Amino acid sequence: MRAVLSPREAAFALAAGHLAALPTETVYGLGARADDPHAIARIYAAKGRPADHPLIAHLATTEAMNNWGTDIPEYAHQLAHSFWPGPLTLVIPRSHRAGDFITGGQDSVAVRVSAHPQMQEVQRVLVELTGDPAIAIAAPSANRFGKVSPTNAKHVLEELQDFTGEDDVVLDGGDCAVGVESTIIDCTGDHPRLLRPGAISVEQIEEVTGLPCTTDSQVRASGTLESHYSPSATVEIVEATALFDHVFATASIGLIALSEHPTPAGMVRLCSPRTREEYAQQLYAALREADALKLAKVLAIAPPMGGIGAAIRDRLTRAAHPD
Ligand code: TXA
Ligand code: MG
Repeated sequence: MRAVLSPREAAFALAAGHLAALPTETVYGLGARADDPHAIARIYAAKGRPADHPLIAHLATTEAMNNWGTDIPEYAHQLAHSFWPGPLTLVIPRSHRAGDFITGGQDSVAVRVSAHPQMQEVQRVLVELTGDPAIAIAAPSANRFGKVSPTNAKHVLEELQDFTGEDDVVLDGGDCAVGVESTIIDCTGDHPRLLRPGAISVEQIEEVTGLPCTTDSQVRASGTLESHYSPSATVEIVEATALFDHVFATASIGLIALSEHPTPAGMVRLCSPRTREEYAQQLYAALREADALKLAKVLAIAPPMGGIGAAIRDRLTRAAHPD
């Protein structure tokens, strides 16, 4: 895999059946054209991901949702029109277009339109090259299965270089603005159900649809495994008041917390975000840094709930879960 700067070059690689890791506003995805079972099989091989875990189909336009789904509920259209392009994924009943090799054999398909300008350009050129306005790019996060999602091109290369080929590319679009994966909403029932929290909050979903957004989905989603998003270091969520109980520990310890929390002597500060949004943006790079520094343990003080706070707490809890 090699880094490229031109969205056009990435689109050509995809059109030819190669893999292209692509920047989105959430995290980098490892993409292949969604109508090519061989290219999709290579995504699973590169990630080391079980084949029954479905992929998100990234669409060029909101309208293309109608090609990928059938019997799409009205509230799903409302969500698409309100939040796309953006950090939101909708799981809808699938049409014949969504092959088993993308959906893991499920009756539904996950779709999203990314707001990242370079990703949008890749999608536009791929539509042009294939002549298919509804062509999708199937892409999971560009990390090995169960690991931390990459938020820049260097992280992608570190993670996937050994598992990809010389014709595969990563499009360098800089650091991701959001930093944690998209909110996923199950739209296969009579009201929205949250599958994975992200930058679009439950409150926003409820406000736009006028419906309750519950968490009782029966749909299976691998990103909701208890242990996921895990660095090698052990992660522990602590309250600010308990932080200084850890100063006498012997192992080297990293700290992730809002800048308002001081660093106890001897601890390695991994990031000092000023806001919840900055916390989300910096979280995965901080977890990677802990591994690069070979720290045994990371303590994290979670930011307040509300907005993207719920997504941060969700990822920290999974990162902290023993494997
Ligand atoms: O922000 C994101 O969503 C990033 C960027 C690249 O778009 N993508 C991402 O993909 O996080 P991935 O594959 O790492 O996580 C997608 C999650 C998985 O947990 C998968 O199980 C779930 O979406 N999913 C995909 N299709 C589904 C379906 N039909 N039903 C239920 N869950 C689905
Ligand atoms: Mg993932």
